[in-house]
Amino acid sequence: LKYIVVGSDGVRAMMESALTARDRVGVQDFVLLENYTSEAAFIENLRKRFKENLIYTYIGSVLVSMNPYRDLEIYTKNHMERYRGVNFYEVSPHIYAVGDNSYRSMRTEGKDQCILISGESGAGKTEASKKILQYYAVTCPASDKVQTIKDRLLQSNPVLEAFGNAKTLRNDNSSRFGKYMDIQFDFKGAPVGGHIINYLLEKSRVVHQNHGERNFHIFYQLIEGGEEDLLRRLGLERNSQQYQFLVKGNCPKVSSINDRSEWKAVKKALTVIGFNEDEIEELLNIIASVLHLGNVQYGGEDGTACITTDTQIKYLSRLLGVNGALLTEALTHKKIIAKGEELVSPLNLEQASSARDALSKAVYGRTFTWLVNKINASLAYKDDSSKHYSVIGLLDIYGFEVSKTTGNFEQFCINYCNEKLQQLFIELTLKSEQDEYEAEGITWEPVQYFNNKIICDLVEEKFKGIISILDEECLRPGDASDITFLEKLEGTVGGHAHFVTHKLADGKTRKVMGRDEFRLLHYAGEVNYNVNGFLDKNNDLLFRNLKEVMCMSENKILNQCFDREELSDKKRPETAATQFKASLAKLMEILMSKEPSYVRCIKPNDAKQAGRFDEVLIRHQVKYLGLMENLRVRRAGFSYRRHYEVFLRRYKSLCPETWPNWQGKKQDGVATLVKHLGYKPEEYKMGRSKIFIRFPKTLFATEDALETRKHGIATKLQAGWRGYSQKSKYQKLRNAAIVFQAYWRGILARRRAQRKRQAANTIRRFIKGFIYRRKERCPENEYFLDYVRYSFLMNLRRNLPKNILDKSWPTPPAALVEASDHLRTLCMQNMVWNYCKKISPEWKHQLEQKMVASEIFKDKKDNYPQSVPKLFVSTRLNGEDINPKVAQCLGSEKMKYGVSVTKYDRKGYKARPRQLLLTNDSAIIVEEGKLKQRIEYGTLKGISVSSLSDGLFVLHAPSDDNKQKGDVVLQSDHVIETLTKLAICGDKANNVNITQGSIKFTAHGKEGIIDFTPGSELLVAKSKNGHLSVLKPLNPHLNQRRSLP
Ligand SMILES: Nc1ncnc2c1ncn2[C@@H]1O[C@H](COP(=O)(O)OP(=O)(O)OP(=O)(O)O)[C@@H](O)[C@H]1O
Ligand SMILES: [Mg+2]
Repeated sequence: LKYIVVGSDGVRAMMESALTARDRVGVQDFVLLENYTSEAAFIENLRKRFKENLIYTYIGSVLVSMNPYRDLEIYTKNHMERYRGVNFYEVSPHIYAVGDNSYRSMRTEGKDQCILISGESGAGKTEASKKILQYYAVTCPASDKVQTIKDRLLQSNPVLEAFGNAKTLRNDNSSRFGKYMDIQFDFKGAPVGGHIINYLLEKSRVVHQNHGERNFHIFYQLIEGGEEDLLRRLGLERNSQQYQFLVKGNCPKVSSINDRSEWKAVKKALTVIGFNEDEIEELLNIIASVLHLGNVQYGGEDGTACITTDTQIKYLSRLLGVNGALLTEALTHKKIIAKGEELVSPLNLEQASSARDALSKAVYGRTFTWLVNKINASLAYKDDSSKHYSVIGLLDIYGFEVSKTTGNFEQFCINYCNEKLQQLFIELTLKSEQDEYEAEGITWEPVQYFNNKIICDLVEEKFKGIISILDEECLRPGDASDITFLEKLEGTVGGHAHFVTHKLADGKTRKVMGRDEFRLLHYAGEVNYNVNGFLDKNNDLLFRNLKEVMCMSENKILNQCFDREELSDKKRPETAATQFKASLAKLMEILMSKEPSYVRCIKPNDAKQAGRFDEVLIRHQVKYLGLMENLRVRRAGFSYRRHYEVFLRRYKSLCPETWPNWQGKKQDGVATLVKHLGYKPEEYKMGRSKIFIRFPKTLFATEDALETRKHGIATKLQAGWRGYSQKSKYQKLRNAAIVFQAYWRGILARRRAQRKRQAANTIRRFIKGFIYRRKERCPENEYFLDYVRYSFLMNLRRNLPKNILDKSWPTPPAALVEASDHLRTLCMQNMVWNYCKKISPEWKHQLEQKMVASEIFKDKKDNYPQSVPKLFVSTRLNGEDINPKVAQCLGSEKMKYGVSVTKYDRKGYKARPRQLLLTNDSAIIVEEGKLKQRIEYGTLKGISVSSLSDGLFVLHAPSDDNKQKGDVVLQSDHVIETLTKLAICGDKANNVNITQGSIKFTAHGKEGIIDFTPGSELLVAKSKNGHLSVLKPLNPHLNQRRSLP
């Protein structure tokens, strides 16, 4: 069950499944262990979880954290978000849950919090504290100002780690100081400041490192990463093997550490925190001078030391800003004030080197303290007008040091510190348990536990405690030594149950104890301490003349570190142990005033390896971290407790009355539920807001029932859900369709309305225009007028006359009458023009003839209309019709037209066939081969025809002269054509008389009359009265029409 996490519900689901998957991954809260007193069960649970990379487990509200020694994907921003504001128990255990819980308690209850992180070196304390800090930096509200503080809080770590951490055998980045850090939050919950307290820096590391260990990181970072320029100025070489203080451990390089990139990070961090260039320079001067100090060598005969390395002194005097000669003097002599007089005595070689080391340690140690103060100044909450802020404290302090080798003075202090913390832990845990029982109204059943107050007293009690005795030995005049101190201890606390020395021990113990050792029976186990160095370390003395030289330093940092007041202060400074005791007391006070949370770190193996579970090592840590004790206290009464609401929410499905919803009070719901589940009275208790369950097995039975029930519910829920999701999908589609429809309908309706509006407007305009149509052009009628014009013109375009004879023409509106007339004329002209263009010469000639015919006969002679459609021919007699003799007679005279006619004699009106030939200047009547009569056009007086439809006509020729034959009566079947030709040839168009009645004529000197009478057919004959009677047939045209049915 890996941390594959999906949303907070996902985590919740996982946490719950983790509870049911307990066989494989163990329980996530040790209180749920059935056999809670069994260490084996405890370790087994740890192992199961560790195997699954579940490094966090709770004991109630205490978080047990295993160092995975590998990067787990559980510290992302998503994870932070997931733990934000979520109930502690609802998600899988995590360091973020602890951080969030403290933060929320601080916000809601307004009480300061502290998170105590403990564990042995390399167990992951510092990492845990950084994770918490990061969690706050990401999840807490922020503003620009807050961001600066957040950055500074985060960046304080690389700086402090560079100066206070070192590679040890146990941990490549071991914190060599204790650290308590306050994060201050304003009323909005934003981090606005911080404060750091440091404890007991391991100064001895500056001058000496065990094999395989290193000095503090900063030295290597400077040498590896420092720019050439900088190193030159500091007089350093890029080779750590050149420096005595760096070669002792024979471990210049560590694979997990990149000094060069760390150097960059530290420099950046220093700037973020607010160090200026000068301060950084001075700080580095000090670091460099410590390295130079290490290389100061002594020589000399007769037991007095003198310095053999002058270059070092030169560098030192420059870097520290002190007088070289004075420094040399101070490093080789000691000054004592006795009875107001200064006594200077030379040091031997051993004393001189320890003076040098003491100076190095003092300079480094005080600079470290200065650094912490400087960081504090940068983190200080500036805007503290109201002074009101809440605090979360983070304590990252060395755990018990229980090594196989004997402990020294520092380990003694550290273990003492842990005894104090354990005491606080027991007290506060018990107290909080008790408080909870009280708050819930449940009777408290006293718990048996080991109270380690007795050990704390052994160490710290006034006058009788180990520290007091140590101080006494340090201060007493005479030959006090580490061994006299041990003897004194035997004398004073020799009878104490937790104290043993070689002398006091039984035979068995004696074998494993040196004569210069004492043993303390700590709550976590027995530890032997070697007394060598106790007095010196406790005194922590720096010779007066060295202090004086330092007080004169021009280096501003050292100037603050070495105060002149110190020199005038006659009283001895407090010993290291007493200072530490005081600072611990203060720390306890700080922690007591806050609500604590605990993170207990465990390292799984000594090899810094991932996945290796070293059971012996772990059992050891479980023991001295007091985890079994802790579990026992937590489980004393009830193994499990939950708010009614949470409990009901989880298990309500197991009881018909509470499923799916319980309407009443939650407590009653839970009561109903547990009754249904058959809980026995001794198995549980109902508190004010929580149910308390005594045994894990009760809970597990419930949990198993839930698992079974879940399958049933799941099926139901699935079906329900599927139905629901389909329904909602359908609903969604439907709604979408409706929206579409509505939208589309809207568009259509709008379009329709628009069209209607336009139509109405048009009609309205039309009507108005119609009303105003006779007025001058004005806005009311312009549309109408335009429209009428337009429609007339359009209509005209479609209905133009098709040909010249087509006389149709659309009726124009009043406004366009004139234009219409113009157009009509134009149109006609155009048609005529087009027509004319198309006429051939023959046709033109034909038309001209027809024109003449029309002028003469139109509306005057009845058979004229019948002649109109018939084309005139050029002649009706061709060459072969003409007698050759006639042709000969005519000679050159050209015949223009010839036609067969009938001539009526004067005598008897006999009809005789003749030919009428028209030439240029005469009309000639021909009989066979003879020219019977020539009538020159000039003599032709006129031509008469009747108005009827007969073919008779009379050519009036002169008859005065007897030679002249006079008028001729002729009949032509083509009378219109014949007469037209004659009229044209002889230019006689005006001389054709069309008479209504009879025609008179004169021939051969005698007059004749032709009468025209209507009849059925043409009949020409002499009538009784001697007239030529012509029965005029009815107009054949009319006839025809009449004969139509
Ligand atoms: N949660 C974690 N995830 C991954 N690695 C971790 C975790 N915690 C610790 N480690 C690894 O273990 C190393 C040691 O951790 P850390 O420095 O926090 O120990 P410590 O308890 O502070 O030890 P010391 O007391 O020596 O300072 C880290 O450098 C890191 O490599
Ligand atoms: Mg650490």
